[in-house]
Amino acid sequence: MTNVISPTSKATNESLLKVLPEIELAALAPTIAEIEALKAERNAVVLAHNYMTPDIYHTVADITGDSLALAYAAKETDADVIVFAGVHFMAETAKITCPEKTVLIPDLDAGCSLAEGITGADIRLLRERYPDTPVVAYVNTSAEVKAEVDICCTSGNAVQIVESLDSDRVIFLPDQYLGKWVASQTDKEIILWEGSCMVHERFTGEELREYRAQHDGVEIIAHPECPPDVLAEADFVGSTAGMINWVKDNKPNKVVMVTECSMSDNVAAETPEVEFVRPCNLCPHMKKITLDGILESLRGMKHEVDVAPDVAERARASVEAMLAVKV
Ligand code: 13P
Ligand code: SF4
Repeated sequence: MTNVISPTSKATNESLLKVLPEIELAALAPTIAEIEALKAERNAVVLAHNYMTPDIYHTVADITGDSLALAYAAKETDADVIVFAGVHFMAETAKITCPEKTVLIPDLDAGCSLAEGITGADIRLLRERYPDTPVVAYVNTSAEVKAEVDICCTSGNAVQIVESLDSDRVIFLPDQYLGKWVASQTDKEIILWEGSCMVHERFTGEELREYRAQHDGVEIIAHPECPPDVLAEADFVGSTAGMINWVKDNKPNKVVMVTECSMSDNVAAETPEVEFVRPCNLCPHMKKITLDGILESLRGMKHEVDVAPDVAERARASVEAMLAVKV
């Protein structure tokens, strides 16, 4: 078969075949080759979130990671163009940290239920209600919201960011479940916003107890956007990158990754010795990003993500404050 995997891929062709049939990989080869040629021509990189499907994650992605790793990567790359294979707030964060670069997203409708549930005006009201209380925003927010808060965080550094603040009380938004998880890990008082992720809120503790009963010795690892009854059943809680590293470090015989389901496919291609029990909750926003969409994006240099300079400047302060906290 044609070797379609880019040199940066962490899977071998053989292991990728476990999650993508050979016939499908061969059919994708011309698209992948054209994307690679356009990347070289335009000095572009593809930053891909861990929830991308394996045909993106293991082929044209130059850098893969969680929101935090991708925020650092956007800042550090010397490419002129970043194609963001992820959702809009992630591409916006890249544009905020590197305004001189062209940031493209293959589908402008790739949103996020958390980002859509809160506005800049909401933050201003919260500030009136809780004066002198620092506001931490999960990066799953719009630039307009980032511009109003003191500091951002991701699921990979939320506890450390909250702990870094010189206040016993912190407003944490918009994800109530990540906020509750943080509250369980710190002595600070956490004021929550009632947002949630439409993908992770669907998991239940009961579902996980059934997996345990059906699969002897299974390890359960979960993303902190899950509700507390789900996290109570988990053997490990961490960001998407934290979960991937946990599987690679611990090599369990069997694991359930309680998060968006493409991630299990991606890790399965890299850890063939681990059996994945796959609950399948797809993020409809992440799934708007396709290999064909990436090709179209590079061909037509669309869709360019822009943030108004005054908003970007204030949002940058919150993102940079986050990136300055060493985890
Ligand atoms: P991570 O920062 O853990 O990659 O999570 C982002 C996200 O949107 C999870 O739903
Ligand atoms: Fe947003 Fe949830 Fe999708 Fe992540 S999985 S992008 S939090 S809707």
